[in-house]
Amino acid sequence: MSLPARSLTPAPPDPILGLTEAFRADPRPARVNLAVGVYVDGSGVTPVIPSVLEAERRLLERAGSKGYLPIDGRPSYRTAVRDLVFDASHEIVASRRSVTAQTPGGTGALRVAADFLLQTGSRRTAWLSEPTWPNHPQLFSLAGFELRRYPYLDASGRRLDVDGMLGALRSASRGDVVVLQGSCHNPSGVDPDAATWQAVADVIVERDLLPIVDFAYQGFGHGLREDADWIEGLARPGLEFLVASSFSKNFALYNERVGALTLVAADEQRAATALGHLKIAIRANYSNPPSHGADIVDTILGDPGLRTQWEAELAGMRGRIRGNRAAFVDALASAGVPGDWEPLRHQRGMFALLGLTSGQVARLREEFAIYVVGRGRINVAGLTDASLPAVVSALGAVILD
Ligand SMILES: Cc1ncc(COP(=O)(O)O)c(C=O)c1O
Repeated sequence: MSLPARSLTPAPPDPILGLTEAFRADPRPARVNLAVGVYVDGSGVTPVIPSVLEAERRLLERAGSKGYLPIDGRPSYRTAVRDLVFDASHEIVASRRSVTAQTPGGTGALRVAADFLLQTGSRRTAWLSEPTWPNHPQLFSLAGFELRRYPYLDASGRRLDVDGMLGALRSASRGDVVVLQGSCHNPSGVDPDAATWQAVADVIVERDLLPIVDFAYQGFGHGLREDADWIEGLARPGLEFLVASSFSKNFALYNERVGALTLVAADEQRAATALGHLKIAIRANYSNPPSHGADIVDTILGDPGLRTQWEAELAGMRGRIRGNRAAFVDALASAGVPGDWEPLRHQRGMFALLGLTSGQVARLREEFAIYVVGRGRINVAGLTDASLPAVVSALGAVILD
């Protein structure tokens, strides 16, 4: 037998990582990469943050073991993640009605969630926001879900389409899965406010839907707790849901692949039983999780001094992103670039959607060596003092023409 014919026809490049390859091959010295979804500092570097370096030093001294971890990961890490997501004082923690499994990144958590739901449930429909992170449709459809989309942004592309979103979710069927981004929506930076989260949760209860909260940017928007305002919408008696956490961004541990899947059930017994099925999904996927990244997170969260240091470093990343947002909006306004830019100032997280045509995106790349994704998703962290004027003037050129 030979390889399947389709495996030998070229696959489409990944929409985001493919652009990074094109960027690297671009010989123009003034090229600017606003496409990649990784935090960069003012000199364009993705640093290892000092609290992580210190945790690694301690781990090296401790010289533990390279033996396998349990299928669902290290117990201390699982507890630390639960308390980070919900806060140790939350009812969900006190009632012990959640279980957390350590996973390879947020992507691993989403895939385990998808497999677990397909293996144990009868519903095969998943609702995703339109637009969303491009890996969502790929991941959920390859796992075996049929996809539906709910509108997310209004015609301006700058604000939430609350009625459109709620209306679409009201048409979902009992047991359908709804993927919600917890904060710092990728690609738009537009998040529901607390009242909208309550309204979304009302529809979820009314239609008996199952939410998966993709929580990849906790602390990158307004703060660790401020970015978790979805919890008060969903934390209702009887409402069960899953949370996929990623520590790629807030600990800058991208290549260590560290994340977690938390399942919240109506009571402790249901959560414990469901964990057994989560473990089967994990065992069949990658057997048990990688250790190093999670050990770093566990060390930092478990040491009050290191935790304070990490929170300050996270606040530094968050502050730089928010400063960049303000500088970008101010520069667009003073250059007279036409557009509704002001909302970008208060959006959350690394991404902003400029709402460009594909022709404008192509011109930015071809004429100005500026790389952006899709309809103009930019990584705001990628702007530097050196690149900002060139980006603003190129945007003026492609928008005004
Ligand atoms: C919305 C969203 N979810 C999940 C992830 C996955 O993160 P990880 O690198 O931890 O797999 C990302 C990463 O870019 C993301 O933007």
